[in-house]
Amino acid sequence: MTSQLTLPRPDDWHLHLRDGAMLQAVLPESARDFARAIIMPNLVPPVVTSADAAAYHARILAALPEGMTFEPLMTLYLTEDTDPDDVAAAHASGLVKAVKLYPAGATTNSASGVRNFDRIRPVLERMADIGLPLCTHGEVTEDHIDIFDREAVFIDRVLDPIRKSTPGLRVVMEHITTRNAVDYVREDSSGQLGATITTHHLILNRNHILAGGIKPHYYCLPVAKREEHRLALRAAATSGDPRYFLGTDSAPHTDPNKLSSCGCAGCFTAPNTMPLLAHVFEEEQALDALAGFACENGPAFYGLPVNRETLTLTKQDSPVRFPEQIVTEDGPVTVFDPGFDIFWKVT
Ligand code: DOR
Ligand code: ZN
Repeated sequence: MTSQLTLPRPDDWHLHLRDGAMLQAVLPESARDFARAIIMPNLVPPVVTSADAAAYHARILAALPEGMTFEPLMTLYLTEDTDPDDVAAAHASGLVKAVKLYPAGATTNSASGVRNFDRIRPVLERMADIGLPLCTHGEVTEDHIDIFDREAVFIDRVLDPIRKSTPGLRVVMEHITTRNAVDYVREDSSGQLGATITTHHLILNRNHILAGGIKPHYYCLPVAKREEHRLALRAAATSGDPRYFLGTDSAPHTDPNKLSSCGCAGCFTAPNTMPLLAHVFEEEQALDALAGFACENGPAFYGLPVNRETLTLTKQDSPVRFPEQIVTEDGPVTVFDPGFDIFWKVT
């Protein structure tokens, strides 16, 4: 039985760090285990221009505690007014590694996102020319589309048409939650498509959120789906297929904002993601696939080297206790609790 696992230091290909006091509090939680992360731009106001990204990058580095190393990989928030030349300059400077598409209204701070997908054609064409990936929040937003169907409908009505009309565009389907998305990636033959999978979507199905009482800390977007979809995600993550890689979507909100009559979407998994993943991969008898998923496939997609440093996970004899909350100046943030014992620890 494997009781110790040494991996290249992992990266997080989808992370929310926020700003100000929250950034200060959550950044060490990611920097402790992860070398790099793709930083989501859904601040208020969003990170739209290359200048915004440079300023946010500087604020992240300023918030990094002494002695920790961490490389923020910046993204731009795509709007209908995004300037293709600014995007190209941001890419050429090396600062920006992807552009994020939020359909307007899909999730937290997405109000400035895209309503009319025709209006972003010039930017997408430029991105295809220069090889800059598009990260998609893959949900349609129409009121009449059931929330559990919004990812599948997005693939059919938005993503597939965009990809067909923009050959060469590299796309990361972010935080996929359905068998439909897993299949769409697997059946693709372009070599230009990848998908991130979160830790919590490997653990939760919709019953976990709703059966036996509502669990606000399990509510995120896209919302967890039926069990068959969770199993498809587990199969994809542990398959060794390099197109699936870790993006935690760790998304801190204070407890008052989660535990409200209109609670925010997001699971805060940065502090314990690697132990949780070791548990999941061990359950799937696929511990040997964890390095690919968390450490190698993401860098390969983004054309970056695998980290030279390492991270070791050790299996303990008794359950490992993680902090229930972290303290921030904005209020407490609850750490994701999987609801079962975890024996793996970063050592
Ligand atoms: O659950 C989520 N939280 N999903 C998102 O797409 C956004 C994120 C956030 O920013 O809180
Ligand atoms: Zn996210």
